[in-house]
Amino acid sequence: EKGGYDYFMLKEIAEQPKAVADTLLGRIDPAGSLTLDEVRISPSELREIDKVVIVACGTAFHAGLIAKYAIEHWTRIPCEVELASEFRYRDPILDSRSLVIAISQSGETMDTLMALRHAREQGSKVLAICNTNGSTIPRESDAVLYTHAGPEVAVASTKAFLTQLVACYLVALYLGQVRGTKWGDEIQAVIKDLSRISEEVERVLETMEPVRALARTLAEKDTVLFLGRHVGYPVALEGALKLKELAYMHAEGFAAGELKHGPIALIEEDVPVVVVVPSPRGRSVLHDKIVSNIQEIRARGARTIVIAEEGDEAVVPYADHLIRIPATPTLLQPLVATVPLQVFACELATARGNEVDQPRNLAKSVTVE
Ligand code: M6R
Repeated sequence: EKGGYDYFMLKEIAEQPKAVADTLLGRIDPAGSLTLDEVRISPSELREIDKVVIVACGTAFHAGLIAKYAIEHWTRIPCEVELASEFRYRDPILDSRSLVIAISQSGETMDTLMALRHAREQGSKVLAICNTNGSTIPRESDAVLYTHAGPEVAVASTKAFLTQLVACYLVALYLGQVRGTKWGDEIQAVIKDLSRISEEVERVLETMEPVRALARTLAEKDTVLFLGRHVGYPVALEGALKLKELAYMHAEGFAAGELKHGPIALIEEDVPVVVVVPSPRGRSVLHDKIVSNIQEIRARGARTIVIAEEGDEAVVPYADHLIRIPATPTLLQPLVATVPLQVFACELATARGNEVDQPRNLAKSVTVE
């Protein structure tokens, strides 16, 4: 049932191109517009929405953090993202014009379920992004967008995460379309780019051997740090979470702009720092700033592991290890940038002799608060 792989996690990592393609399937019509029939909230209700609130836990929360960039950019609707476990305890401001998006692979996470119940009690509409048909979270929501990742068995979420991102982009594009947005041309371009992303993920998977080899050399380390900016920041958080849960290492993700506000004090000789570099095209200011960050940490002894777009030559002099990813539009980069981090964590866990599919102390779905 592991399809020839040693672990479910490896199988699920390998299934990502198909999972991404399946989640897009039938949702973009040949004319290039979006039809999301599972969204049973009417377009007129969606036009009334004045705020989006995303609630989720763990990896699904990281998908939500990335979704915020897409939703605010394409729709101009303010979007908050909150850990489901914190949400209802702070008396959040919600009403019938708030759209709450609950993201959950299992559809059974108690924290997320309680957050969505709270939102519905306040009269808000709830849209679930979920991978498990007929599970509790979609059953209790006003609308559902299923991710078509197929069953995810490994405790560490991989293919569900990529499909959650795709679903979030679809929701953002749909909201933009329904409400009319000045990004019409960009949306058409993004739809084209999304339809190519499955092949890009495949290409990333074909180049993972050096990442595995690198991971094996780090098996004795205590700490790995992750840096990112813009949508690369949640990717850094996700890379750190994967490493914590699988390799039981101290791993932390930071927004690169925060370095000088504290985290740079952690940099010492030979500490591995993974840096997710934004595209040099598009928001190139961010690219240049992060290249300076890489120089700064390297000057203080960090071993830099740089994830950068093909053709980005500016990073080459400062990268002790360079991991190439295909060029994508900025907002879509997490779909390709996360994959090496999954492989990295899986290989480190293996090198440390850990149980990859069943990390200690963790359950696949957390059905208690
Ligand atoms: O089933 P859910 O998506 O609601 O689960 C949320 C988290 O428990 C889950 O993503 C967890 O963080 C994973 N083990 C991360 O790999």
